[in-house]
Amino acid sequence: MMTKPRMLVTGGSGYLGGWVARLARDGWDVTATYLAHAVGEPDVDWRHLDVWDEAAVVTLVDEVRPQVVIHTAALNPGQGRDFDAVNAAGARHVARASASVGARLIHLSSDVLFDGRKGHYVEEDPPSPITPYGRSKARGEEAVRDSGAEAVIVRTSLVYGWRPSVARAAQWMIDDLRAGKPVHLFTDEVRCPIWVESLAAAVVELAGMSYTGILHVAGAQALSRYEFGVRLLRFHGVDPSPVIPVPSPKDIPRPLNCTLDCSRARALLRTPLPGVDEVLAAHSPSS
Ligand SMILES: NC(=O)c1ccc[n+]([C@@H]2O[C@H](COP(=O)([O-])OP(=O)(O)OC[C@H]3O[C@@H](n4cnc5c(N)ncnc54)[C@H](OP(=O)(O)O)[C@@H]3O)[C@@H](O)[C@H]2O)c1
Repeated sequence: MMTKPRMLVTGGSGYLGGWVARLARDGWDVTATYLAHAVGEPDVDWRHLDVWDEAAVVTLVDEVRPQVVIHTAALNPGQGRDFDAVNAAGARHVARASASVGARLIHLSSDVLFDGRKGHYVEEDPPSPITPYGRSKARGEEAVRDSGAEAVIVRTSLVYGWRPSVARAAQWMIDDLRAGKPVHLFTDEVRCPIWVESLAAAVVELAGMSYTGILHVAGAQALSRYEFGVRLLRFHGVDPSPVIPVPSPKDIPRPLNCTLDCSRARALLRTPLPGVDEVLAAHSPSS
């Protein structure tokens, strides 16, 4: 029997990391990590890892000796405040350890490392973060570049999906509306939301390629958070009419137009990157 190449997925217990592990396990020998949420998904070697702990990262990478590391572990907005410890220092530890064993690294970054004034950002646009989360993701990218690892930095946008569970992007709205709470959605924050299964497939495809550098990987359709939310609610059979469309608050800096130009990814990848309407029209929440 042919041995499969080894892949290490950090944040395998997360939404994207879970899909990467699921899609990769046929072709790769997958080790995936969790921090607080242990996972029982089969055909994956599950390990506990805190990426802030450099010694633990080095020990795991030395033991697994992966050909490819997919670094999805991150602290996302709403999950705490210690963004730098996870998204900058953690990325540095993972990138250095990957470089030390000659592993190819696919690092997940974000559209909100841009200030959102320009929109339609290309890979060459310099990061201009205006939020603590955005700054930590920009520092994470610097750490990856400084590590000397053979790396791809995948900048992506709002992630949505409904399998194996409904993504955060929709779940909080459904919960709040069902509880009779008001839901306000911004009309002036524009993103290119991506279906988690497209993004994971693109990441797994990239794992087996030789491309290095930055790559913008997001959905084909630019939508405001309001337009996006209304579509997700309808898809899940929830009446969106109580949702209140509002402009974003002006007292805290928020990036407005973080749309990504993904033409490089479209030319490079076989994986399609459809927009929200196309994805939702082709599926149902039970499919
Ligand atoms: N979700 C979005 O809309 C979005 C948008 C743009 C970019 N991204 C980027 O895409 C990537 C994946 O996002 P996601 O939405 O799939 O994330 P997620 O569902 O929130 O999962 C985060 C993962 O990171 C793990 N984690 C958190 N802190 C950790 C630490 N200190 N050490 C090790 N693992 C840790 C979590 O483990 P436990 O759950 O076991 O604690 C979980 O597996 C991230 O890099 C994110 O910044 C996401």
